[in-house]
Amino acid sequence: MAKRIQFRAHGGPEVLEYVDYQPTEPGPQQVRVSNKAIGLNFIDTYFRSGLYAPPALPSGLGAEGAGVVDAVGRDVTRFKVGDRVAYGSGPLGAYSDLHTLPQDNLVHLPDAISFEQAAGVMLKGLTVQYLLRQTYELKGGETILFHAAAGGVGSLACQWAKALGVKLIGTVSSPEKAALAKANGAWATIDYSHEDVAQRVLELTNGKKCPVVYDGVGKDTWLTSLDCTAPRGLVVSFGNASGAVDGVNLGILAAKGSLYVTRPTLGTYTNNAEKLQTMADELFAMISSDNIKVDISQRYSLADAAKAQTELSARRTTGSTVLLP
Ligand SMILES: NC(=O)c1ccc[n+]([C@@H]2O[C@H](COP(=O)([O-])OP(=O)(O)OC[C@H]3O[C@@H](n4cnc5c(N)ncnc54)[C@H](OP(=O)(O)O)[C@@H]3O)[C@@H](O)[C@H]2O)c1
Repeated sequence: MAKRIQFRAHGGPEVLEYVDYQPTEPGPQQVRVSNKAIGLNFIDTYFRSGLYAPPALPSGLGAEGAGVVDAVGRDVTRFKVGDRVAYGSGPLGAYSDLHTLPQDNLVHLPDAISFEQAAGVMLKGLTVQYLLRQTYELKGGETILFHAAAGGVGSLACQWAKALGVKLIGTVSSPEKAALAKANGAWATIDYSHEDVAQRVLELTNGKKCPVVYDGVGKDTWLTSLDCTAPRGLVVSFGNASGAVDGVNLGILAAKGSLYVTRPTLGTYTNNAEKLQTMADELFAMISSDNIKVDISQRYSLADAAKAQTELSARRTTGSTVLLP
């Protein structure tokens, strides 16, 4: 019998159950993947807590993984049984031995990339691809601010920014995380547990502030992010690690210097198979050329997913975390 993590009701990590289940047979244009490694992401905690709504309860969880094609449905043209594949978007259910998803959500995984690397980088690395290369197309030479620079997305952003010749200022909550962000290529770090972020950004940019600020922390950092953005600059609010940003009065964007704000999702940027494969190929090339090292700092068995989520939410993880079925 196959195993998966599911939850019947929203709540803390304790609602996650490790259960037997009957995997679905792949329908038209669907592929079933035998997962070899599964990625842990902050978004998984949003679906578990109820901040984001799953289609139904009980629900599977997780959107990132890598493995081998186990079965294909009718009209599947791009994959065959035995292919190495990876994915970084829904439907929910990656926390499982066997996961069925549309072929358009899958990419071919080159032999040079291990299953663990792929599971640690698909969702987070594709996010960094679109944040740095599409949402705001960095050219090199810019000085930018990136919050939670030692986390999963942040660790990859530090490396990608360095490769582009961008000076990334990363916020972190401890000296250990600052050292990690620096080792990953951050140009400077600010420890927001005791430093004034806006003041430090002014100093580090000689008063100019940043043309773009990337904020996945959300509620706690929103106003600071506005203060760190140069006039007519862009705030990219891409996550809610400290809670959702709400109740925004648009007038504040005028007051802070005619700022732009976007709230992007990976799904919008990967909404067709061709775009997804192109972005993944760019990501895999960054790994193969050693510009990006996937730091799998934590490994848990799939059965211990609740423990893994507890550590992620308590800010005790760095880099990527994978679950092993
Ligand atoms: N929109 C998208 O397309 C997209 C895609 C992927 C991820 N995301 C978002 O990107 C962010 C990072 O995701 P991730 O999976 O890589 O997680 P992560 O960065 O590994 O973990 C979140 C980090 O946020 C920081 N943080 C600040 N305040 C926090 C709080 N109150 N509670 C918990 N953490 C807090 C912590 O770093 P410090 O201890 O250094 O503060 C923590 O390690 C999340 O918000 C996620 O939802 C968005």
